[in-house]
Amino acid sequence: MTSRREGSSHIPETGETMRGIILAGGSGTRLRPITAVSSKQLLPVYDKPMIYYPLSVLLLAGIREILVISNPEHLDAYRRLLGDGRQLGLELAYAEQDRPRGLADALRVGREFVGEEPLALILGDNIFYGHALTEVLRTERERLDGCTLFGYSVADPERYGVAGVDDTGRITSLEEKPTEPVSNLAVTGLYFYDNEALDMAAGLTPSARGELEITDLNNLFVEQGRARMVTLGRGNAWFDTGTHESLLDAALFVRVLAKRQGVRLACIEEVAYHMGFIDAEQLGVLGKECGASSYGRYLRELAGV
Ligand code: DAU
Repeated sequence: MTSRREGSSHIPETGETMRGIILAGGSGTRLRPITAVSSKQLLPVYDKPMIYYPLSVLLLAGIREILVISNPEHLDAYRRLLGDGRQLGLELAYAEQDRPRGLADALRVGREFVGEEPLALILGDNIFYGHALTEVLRTERERLDGCTLFGYSVADPERYGVAGVDDTGRITSLEEKPTEPVSNLAVTGLYFYDNEALDMAAGLTPSARGELEITDLNNLFVEQGRARMVTLGRGNAWFDTGTHESLLDAALFVRVLAKRQGVRLACIEEVAYHMGFIDAEQLGVLGKECGASSYGRYLRELAGV
C-alpha cells in the first residue's frame, strides 16, 4: 500500500527541500496564570492547540521536515501530541531551547537539522489566514534569495518589528519595537531564509538582554540588499496570541469561520490530505482517533467514512 498520493502537484518544484522550524518556547509570562503549567503554544485556540496554526502554514508551503523547539519541561507534551509526524506524512523532530535565548537562537538549535537546505522559521504563537496564502507561500519559497519576511499592516506597529520598504518590496530598514515607527508594516513571525542564515545567526552577538535577536539577523540581509518584504494585504488575517485579548480575538475569528462557512482553519489533518501527504484512508483513521468531537466528525466527513 502506498501511504501518499503519488505525483502530487501541490508540492513546489524547487529542487530543494526547505526545512521548517517552529519555535514554541519562551516563558509565557504575559499569559500567566494560564501558562503556569502549560506551554503557551499548546493552549487552545478555539478547537485545536495553538501549534496547529503555524504547523499548517509550513505544510501549505510544502514543507514536510519540521523541527519543533521548546523548553525542556514542555517538549515531551509536543512529542505526545504530534509524534514523529508519520500519521500526517511528515518527519517531525524535536529540540530543546534551555531558556529563551532569542528568536534567532532557533537557527543555532536547528543548525544540524537544517543541514544544507533553506529554511522557514515560524513562531509557534502566530496565526495566519488568507485565501491566497498558499499561493504566496509557494511563490516566495521558489523565488527566495537571502531572506523573505511577511508584513502586515497594523494599528499598533510599536509592538512589533517594523519595516521600511521600497517600491520593489526590498526592505530598506528594520527596527524592533520602535517608539517612532517608520511605517505601519509589522514584521510577522514567519521568516524564509537561505542556508547562509545559519552562519549569520551563529555570528550574532547577544543583545543587552542576552538574546540573539531576529531583527539583528534580518538586518544583516537588509545591509546586503537581500531582504524582501511580502505584504499580506486586506484579504488576510494575522494574529499573534501574546496577550489574553489577542488570544481570545484569534479564537473568536476561528469560530466565526467554522460556524459561518463550515471551514476549519489550520486543521493539519485536512491540510496534509489536501497536500497529498496522506490519503483518504489515513485521514479517516485520524478522524476516528478524535472520537466524538466535532473536529473528528469533520475529518471523517472529509474522508468519506
Ligand atoms: O509576532 C511577531 C513579532 O514576534 C515580530 O514582529 C517581532 O519582530 C519579533 O521580535 C517577535 O516579537 P515578540 O515580542 O512577539 O517576541 P517574543 O519575545 O514574545 O517571542 C515570540 C514567541 O517566541 C513567543 O511565543 C515565545 C517564543 N520564544 C521567544 C524567545 C525570545 C521562544 O520560543 N524562544 C525565545 O528565546
